[in-house]
Amino acid sequence: MGAIGQPIDRRDGPAKVTGAARYTAEFAVPDAAYAVLVQSAVAAGTIAGIDTPPVMAMPGVLLVVTPDNALRLKQQKGSPQAVMAPALQDRGISFSGQTVAVVVADTLDQALDAAAHVGVLTNAGSVIPVMDQALDRAYVPKAFRNGARPPASRRGDPDAAFAAAPVRVAQRYATPVEHHNPMEPHATIAKWDSDAGGDRLTVWMTTQAISGAQKTLATAFGLAPERVHVICPFVGGGFGSKGNCWPPTILAAMAAKMAGRPVKLVLTRKQMYTSNGYRPRTIQDLKLGAATDGALTALRHDGMSQMSRGDFGEFCEPVALASEMLYAVPNNAVSHRLVAVHQGLPTYMRAPGEAPGVFALECAMDELAYQAKIDPLQLRLRNYTERNEHEDKPFSAKKLRDCYQRGAESFGWSRRSMAPGSMRDGHTLIGWGMATATYPMNRMPAKALVRLDAGGHVLVQTGSQDLGTGTYTILAQIAAETLGVPVAQVRVELGDSKFPPAPVSGGSMTTASVGPAVLAGSRQVRDQLLAMAAAQWKVVATQQLVLDRMVVSGPAGTVSAAELMAARKVGFVEATGEAKPGDGAKHASLHSFGAQFCEVRVDPDLGEIRVSRFVGAFDAGRVMNAKTARSQAIGGIVFGIGMALLEETVVDRNLGRIVNPNVAEYLLPVNVDIPDIQTILIENDDQLSNPLGARGLGELPMVGAAAAVANAVFHATGKRVRELPIRIEDVMA
Ligand code: MOS
Repeated sequence: MGAIGQPIDRRDGPAKVTGAARYTAEFAVPDAAYAVLVQSAVAAGTIAGIDTPPVMAMPGVLLVVTPDNALRLKQQKGSPQAVMAPALQDRGISFSGQTVAVVVADTLDQALDAAAHVGVLTNAGSVIPVMDQALDRAYVPKAFRNGARPPASRRGDPDAAFAAAPVRVAQRYATPVEHHNPMEPHATIAKWDSDAGGDRLTVWMTTQAISGAQKTLATAFGLAPERVHVICPFVGGGFGSKGNCWPPTILAAMAAKMAGRPVKLVLTRKQMYTSNGYRPRTIQDLKLGAATDGALTALRHDGMSQMSRGDFGEFCEPVALASEMLYAVPNNAVSHRLVAVHQGLPTYMRAPGEAPGVFALECAMDELAYQAKIDPLQLRLRNYTERNEHEDKPFSAKKLRDCYQRGAESFGWSRRSMAPGSMRDGHTLIGWGMATATYPMNRMPAKALVRLDAGGHVLVQTGSQDLGTGTYTILAQIAAETLGVPVAQVRVELGDSKFPPAPVSGGSMTTASVGPAVLAGSRQVRDQLLAMAAAQWKVVATQQLVLDRMVVSGPAGTVSAAELMAARKVGFVEATGEAKPGDGAKHASLHSFGAQFCEVRVDPDLGEIRVSRFVGAFDAGRVMNAKTARSQAIGGIVFGIGMALLEETVVDRNLGRIVNPNVAEYLLPVNVDIPDIQTILIENDDQLSNPLGARGLGELPMVGAAAAVANAVFHATGKRVRELPIRIEDVMA
């Protein structure tokens, strides 16, 4: 059996458990000074003045960077990463927590002390803290999906069809601001050198995209990209917050340049709530019309999401995209609008768009099931589609039916009684809810170096990064299987911008993008060896030749790879594999799917909600590693439960300050909140998506999980909660 798919342990595990894995802040860079951010208390206005001389006189202080002395940065034109504006480029303030100065000192304590003494005089302006206060000013995004498509779509006449429908649901749903909260806070160490070619910048940073950071930093400081070296061997969680190169990294590089010394900047947990994006609040209007048998005739999904007011770029949570394609419906319309408030720039977070959007759609579907008096799972099956009606293409290899069936079987869904409050365990209310999951297959060009030496050891290098999801491990499995060597003999090196380029580890695209590059490089290395053997045997066709355990065998006999290399006087054979999106998307719609089933137990007197069982069944194409895939699936469901019941960033409605910027008061799911989660990965091989047949599993398992919980809460209590998180007071009698 090949290495691909095997439940091999994550190879970064022992290094992380023993502390051998080096995270950004742990790199020892000689002579590094420490930078600390000074942030605005007010949420709107301008900086009138910053009193720096007393601070400069404090012990160890080397530099205070303010908008008055900051280096002027070049903005990356038309880039989604236009997040430099709050990097001290002007005196404007548009959110509480915006960085207004950076203090650099010899030691961290000196920098912290000095930062606490920086006097900032501000002219405070009037504040719009939360989007609900400005819904009348919603506007259409300028660059939705980075300009790749318009923010609205329509087919048929959904309004007429809705008006004529015998069964209707029209409801508003809302999800709160949420923060990523990776365990490892954002950190940067920046160091400048120069040589005959000019300045060189080396940056150790925790990031989901060394390639993107390299480009952003090069543009900001007017350098050629190859003059910027980004290093990130391990990431302690990202969840979208480390996709952009955010202002603190740029400010660390700026401070290092101005101070003439390497500079280390590590965010505090509180600063993590104001410095690197968040999931914006969403308010979503759903209208579903159906025939009496539950067949959808109309679907409208109109979403609004929170935006910042400063000129920092734009981010729109694409909540309604799944509503274009998840079900068969002839009359469909979606739209997206933004509401600007005095908060920082939002960003991607754990299935951006689908997570909050499918929460709304799948709760509305549950409401429709009750209106039509149809089992919620039967309603999904009645509206099943083999085609993406929005793209007008068939799905590539859709196995959602299997997800529904296997998930339902495993959960015991057929034993559900429909009426809310009808299932009990003694005094405790039992609720069973389900929802559909979907996430697109994303893919970008990538390259990978693959080198096989005469001793049978393989080196794989690619400028990707491992977020803790298993990238190191699965790339080794792909090379091992293709070259016929044990996985343990493959070394994988990631997280260095000197390696062949790879895309951001976001949008669940690493396996689908980088995997095929490693596959291509490994095949090229194998084919070189087969060609050497063919030449030696004077046979033309290499199709009959096989490389396994460093031996090429064919009709003419066997020859070892080491002998072939020795004959050519080479110590190794190497190739740079290149992979880019194929034309599968021309013929088919490339999407992953899943089915989520949740049981909750609710105390009818106290309103306490406990998720007691959860089954998630997923079709994400071919599974690269059964163990890391299962871990991804569990992780997504855990965050779905968090989204449903716990997570919320609370914003003060007068001053616009974040009230709970810490993991004590921002509630994340912990072990006691999580039941035994059962995951089912449906066997599939989606060759239209890419040559590995895998679509990626980073975000899919998060999608629909919150709706399954909310629908279970309704089934238990009869209370339909349409705003997350669901609280005790929402369900108390
Ligand atoms: Mo993911 S939210 O695209 O890092």
